[in-house]
Amino acid sequence: MSVGRENWGSRFGFIMAAAGSAIGLGNVWRFPYITGTNGGGAFLLIYLGIIVAFGVSLALAEMVVGRTAQRNPVGAFRALGGARWAGVGFLGVFTGFAILSFYIVVAGWTLAYIVQSLRGGLHSTDPKVLEAAFGAFVSDPVAPIVYAGLFIGLTAWIVVGGIARGIERWNKILMPALFVILLVLVARALTLPGAAQGLSFYLVPDFSKVSTRTFYDAISQVFFSLSIGMGTLLTYGSYLSKQENLPSAALTVVLLDTCAAVLAGLMILPAVFAFGFNPSAGPGLTFITLPAVFASMPFGAVFSVLFFTLLAIAALTSAVSILEPMVAYFVDEHGLDRRRTVIVAACVCFLLGVPASLSFGLWNGFTLFGKTWFDLMDFLSNNLLLPIGGLLTALFVGWAWAQPAAHHLSNEGKLHQPWSPLWLFVLRYVAPLGILWILLSSLLK
Ligand code: PHE
Repeated sequence: MSVGRENWGSRFGFIMAAAGSAIGLGNVWRFPYITGTNGGGAFLLIYLGIIVAFGVSLALAEMVVGRTAQRNPVGAFRALGGARWAGVGFLGVFTGFAILSFYIVVAGWTLAYIVQSLRGGLHSTDPKVLEAAFGAFVSDPVAPIVYAGLFIGLTAWIVVGGIARGIERWNKILMPALFVILLVLVARALTLPGAAQGLSFYLVPDFSKVSTRTFYDAISQVFFSLSIGMGTLLTYGSYLSKQENLPSAALTVVLLDTCAAVLAGLMILPAVFAFGFNPSAGPGLTFITLPAVFASMPFGAVFSVLFFTLLAIAALTSAVSILEPMVAYFVDEHGLDRRRTVIVAACVCFLLGVPASLSFGLWNGFTLFGKTWFDLMDFLSNNLLLPIGGLLTALFVGWAWAQPAAHHLSNEGKLHQPWSPLWLFVLRYVAPLGILWILLSSLLK
């Protein structure tokens, strides 16, 4: 065990940081548009079903592994399961790079939209105008890349600051603020004339739209949104003291993340219908719809600045949690200097982000397997690496390390947990079979 390893300042701090990791672009940007392209209500139901079936159990599994080993993903799997399992940790470190490459691009858009709102641009409720403005911005060969660079720079700055004073302090203030403003915007969206159609699209399931693809997109979204499958929750758990009650912390984090996603859907989808946008517009959906919501409310410009600022911050707290596991790996296992590691890792992510940004303009035509670099990185991490990481974690905790897992989960028997056999059952059978079935049925089609 590493001596002098930093810890969270408090249990609340840990929960806020883990929630800060979970709540990010996945909730506000990705969830509404994935729901939109998958036909609405039925997708929401399947998404929630997967969270209940094994999302919570997997989040908890990662936290237990991390807290027990008090190490980064590679070190933790190696310490608890031997060299054979270290690969799961490596997979996570690799996944972090893939995710950040497109994450910083979208996060950069949020920064740009703060500036735009400050300038009073984007003031329109006309879909054509807003779509054109978004298209013109993201296809620019320079500006979005500069914003992405700025964003990864900010992320690196926080990660250099360390755990309690860097990551924890910010999350404690900003997460509650984000929820408040989400609620205000939901209230506005729901009272727009024509919102009802969007509401029924979102809440009334139409099962004729369900295919294997729906399950596949839902499972990817669950992993991405809950930050599971790449060792983020594991790493955050590793900074937690051994007295905390993990199950309740895990449940709180999952609940907060799910509320944020459901609220984001309630904010975007009614507005999509009220203003006549196309719900399957893809990655631009949030960025073209929200300005219309702002333009239709009193003090819209103020809300716009506030909202994109909070979204950028939510993205920042998530990006920090994607960067931290790989940094922890190089620092713990190779004894590298933290600051230098952060800088190098951030530069690599930035370089990977350049083609992702150019995917919307200059390099739009360069595709691999029919996907641009941006889509490829999104697909690779969300549709393959995270579910595979989650599958292996479930197999590790459910089969290879089951007895110690239950023991450590209960703080060496101090907590009464009559349901822990159920948790292990989920990790043994439900999660692996569920993930495998969804992956194989979509990929082999
Ligand atoms: N959960 C984050 C979001 O919703 C993204 C993330 C994925 C963070 C994987 C950490 C690990 O934006």
